Amino acid sequence: MWKHATSKVLAAIAVGALTIGAAHAQSTVKIGFILPMTGQQQSTGKQISAAARLYMAQNGDTVAGKKIELIVKDDGAVPDNTKRLAQELIVNDKVSFIAGFGVTPAALSVAPLATEAKVPAIVTAAGTSIITERSPYFARTSFTLPQSSVIIADWAAQNGIKKVVTMVSDYAPGVDAEKAFVDRFKEKGGQIVEAIRFPLANPDFAPFLQRAGDQKPDAVFVFVPSGQGAVFVKQFVERGLDKAGVRIIGPGDVTDDDLLNGMGDAVIGTVTAHMYSTDHDSAKNKAFVEAFKKANNGLRPNFMAVGGYDGMHLIYEALKKTKGDTNGDKLIAAMKGMKWESPRGPIQIDADTRDIIQNIYIRKVEKKNGELYNVEFATFEAVKDPVKAAKK
Ligand code: PHB
Repeated sequence: MWKHATSKVLAAIAVGALTIGAAHAQSTVKIGFILPMTGQQQSTGKQISAAARLYMAQNGDTVAGKKIELIVKDDGAVPDNTKRLAQELIVNDKVSFIAGFGVTPAALSVAPLATEAKVPAIVTAAGTSIITERSPYFARTSFTLPQSSVIIADWAAQNGIKKVVTMVSDYAPGVDAEKAFVDRFKEKGGQIVEAIRFPLANPDFAPFLQRAGDQKPDAVFVFVPSGQGAVFVKQFVERGLDKAGVRIIGPGDVTDDDLLNGMGDAVIGTVTAHMYSTDHDSAKNKAFVEAFKKANNGLRPNFMAVGGYDGMHLIYEALKKTKGDTNGDKLIAAMKGMKWESPRGPIQIDADTRDIIQNIYIRKVEKKNGELYNVEFATFEAVKDPVKAAKK
């Protein structure tokens, strides 16, 4: 009898301990950011992690009664690393979200894991259209290259640019940008005189610029990933293409706000289409830029930072909607159709595709108070990824 009672009590204590353990485990929600903190893409990692931390500093580290823990892992933009880190974060750290992904191959590498583990994967950087179709657990707060490439094609066709050489990094987002631009520009009567692709890793643009210059185009349409724009512009100027009257156009990755001041006055007048400029004229953005600079030794937030900041917002708001429930299906359902004002302007998560719908701005590089900025002068509202829209 006594023995029996003791075992019951022990069992009750054991159950109690387990419950307490589970409640404790569940009271923390972990978010695993996988970013290139080293290597060629490191500015992306630096910008996004700084923005995620800023978001937490401004909005607190408790959401729907859960304590938020941010974990940042460095994949060096190598997809095998991304995949391994995602697996470790999901299995060992038991994260409720994975996020980040500085380049498209890194994002693609986690698709099967997100699907299998039913863990939401928030794309805060990579920009190839296809990514969000590879897992129903992807949602994107960055951009797609076709969103801005189509718009700059229209602008070029309407602004006296007739002959273009395309110059893109030879991997998925470059190919996406090139195709979107070429199809639209030709449709509008423009001529593509040459299509050049250069390697993603440590490119020497000089020989490719020589080839482009030989064609005497009105403009080169350029896509290089964030971090490479300054080298491209430097070599463009060294080859004398600016003096020869060739213009640079493209998505705004090439005139990256993070690097723009180092590009020199040769870049003044460059017109690009993009979803974010540090110079975006809104109260929300002014506060964001000021707080970001203050927290990061004067560093300007670029378009990657805004993707990271909004990625955190999406996670926080989804958790509020599920009342802290970390079930992946419920979280993704909560994200669909969500709308808010970002530092870039109004944005929403497409309820059908989980991709971002956002304004695309046409901007021109200008000098203001001694600094270079991408100054927005035209707005295209609520732009969906045109590749997905065309599939419908
Ligand atoms: C990508 O790999 O998808 C990517 C990276 C950097 C960019 C844009 C796209 O600036």
